[in-house]
Amino acid sequence: MDVLKAISDRRSHRIYQAEQLPEEVLSAILKAGLEAPSARNHQPWHFSVVQDAELIQAVHDEAAAVMGKGGNPRFSDDAFQMFYHAPTAVFIFGEKDFGWTQVDCGIAVENMALAAEGLGVGSVILGLPKPAFMGEKADELRARLQCPEGYDFVIALALGYPADTKEAHELHWEKISRI
Ligand SMILES: Cc1cc2nc3c(=O)[nH]c(=O)nc-3n(C[C@H](O)[C@H](O)[C@H](O)COP(=O)(O)O)c2cc1C
Repeated sequence: MDVLKAISDRRSHRIYQAEQLPEEVLSAILKAGLEAPSARNHQPWHFSVVQDAELIQAVHDEAAAVMGKGGNPRFSDDAFQMFYHAPTAVFIFGEKDFGWTQVDCGIAVENMALAAEGLGVGSVILGLPKPAFMGEKADELRARLQCPEGYDFVIALALGYPADTKEAHELHWEKISRI
């Protein structure tokens, strides 16, 4: 039942406290990522954990530069930072030449988001950093983030203690067919 509560209570948090996660809490979240199922148990992921605010900002800056101001409505707010100044960011890199990488990394990131919720930690899954790995600084950033050879950015997860509250998103039961 704790799993159902974590699923129901999880939100995409977009305001964070500055307080860093204790090491054992972060470690438990990362373990939940490694515990995710994957096609043929291939585990086509690599998690790069960043707590260096300057490096997180560098990814934001490059993604914003590649995307341009019109790339996302949130960029019209000059104060916007795509990691929401969360104290920890996990970059999930996936093996490029494996057919289930996107699915497997998606399952892993949700495992981590749910584990975080269960431990009282807020999170938000982030696709917006992707352009940072498509422009001029892509190789430099992949190197700084220790992305393995043959892997590329799939998704990121911001982690921290939330400073916002949010309603659950609307459920569309019509998206279920019971035959
Ligand atoms: C693949 C994926 C990419 C996402 N990328 C972003 C993002 O870049 N920035 C952001 O603020 N939220 C991002 N989100 C969060 C969604 O906006 C959020 O899950 C959705 O609005 C539902 O809200 P909830 O997570 O609070 O239920 C992403 C979610 C997923 C699953």
